[in-house]
Amino acid sequence: MSLPPKLNPPNRTLLGPGPSPVSQRVLQALSLPVVGHLDPEFLKIMDQSMAMLREVFQTKNRLALPMSGTGSAGMETCFVNLLEPGDAVLIGVNGVFGTRMVDVAQRCGAQVDTVEAEWGTALDPQQFRTALAKKKYKVTAIVHAETSTGVLQPLDDIARLVHENGSLFLVDAVTSLGGAPVRVDEVGIDVCYSGTQKCLGCPPGLSPVTFNERAVEVIRNRKQKVQSWYLDLSMIEKYWGSERVYHHTAPISMNYALHAALRILLEEGMEASWQRHRQVHETLVREMRKLEVEPAVAESIRAPMINTMTIPDGTDDARVRQRLYDEFNIEIGAGLGPLKGKIWRVGLMGYGSRVENVELLAKALKQLI
Ligand SMILES: Cc1ncc(COP(=O)(O)O)c(C=O)c1O
Repeated sequence: MSLPPKLNPPNRTLLGPGPSPVSQRVLQALSLPVVGHLDPEFLKIMDQSMAMLREVFQTKNRLALPMSGTGSAGMETCFVNLLEPGDAVLIGVNGVFGTRMVDVAQRCGAQVDTVEAEWGTALDPQQFRTALAKKKYKVTAIVHAETSTGVLQPLDDIARLVHENGSLFLVDAVTSLGGAPVRVDEVGIDVCYSGTQKCLGCPPGLSPVTFNERAVEVIRNRKQKVQSWYLDLSMIEKYWGSERVYHHTAPISMNYALHAALRILLEEGMEASWQRHRQVHETLVREMRKLEVEPAVAESIRAPMINTMTIPDGTDDARVRQRLYDEFNIEIGAGLGPLKGKIWRVGLMGYGSRVENVELLAKALKQLI
């Protein structure tokens, strides 16, 4: 064969739903020398990353580690480890990722019930109250920041109702972690997963998860083995814990990147990072209003890191996004499902959450709409 040209990807400004821009510091970490997955120096890095993940998740949970794989691997890790065939699960569905949770749980053989809300609106705690009063659920799961709609789901009321039922509370924080308060212990989240490519400012490739002792106990008391060998936490724990038993070859370079990214986030501070995401989001809303582009979601439930904006009437959605690529090197996201052609999704996540990026986008859109 004739060889393809050498790699030369464009240097885009990533303002879509993820991946988000990656800082030089994180990119440099990716190019550090690769060591073995049982090298004593790598084991130290693993311990440090677990400690930093606990800070970022705001938890004292012993089990906090990055699964190899993207956010969906984190989602699947939570469901396959907790569920056995026939178990009852309640899932909130108001977008793509709640829908994906249902699919994953059904593949585990679980009996899935849903609480649904129109895409672009929040799930109603009252509906959880009603559902939870009727049946005992092993797990109740919701998405914190629904990336397909831009809704930031309030957690506290649902967490309380879930615990009154004795159910485990499982939260998808793929998009929210680092960009808005997740506070695993304070809210009462039993199981949580995230992804590296959003507000953590890494490339895609790892999925941090945390399980509290109640959830770990559920894994210990399983009747059957976890159906997925690769995602079985009872084995993975033995690699990340003190036993250091080989399970799979950890993606060394991605773990360096995560270590660097967590360090950057904690240097800034969680509160400061949340505040920055909020302020940059507010700047975007102001700038877009000048162009008569309005937010698609009610103010009280807007996710600051994933901004859904209503496409103005008469604007050619696909053409604007293509011209943003071609002429401005900027990526923004299209609407999905029922929101296709109706909204743009502007990600201001992690290292990408900066006023300069809002200005860049506003200047470009001014010429395109
Ligand atoms: C809220 C949410 N959950 C889960 C996922 C799945 O993550 P991944 O695409 O990294 O597998 C995503 C990805 O965008 C997401 O936004």
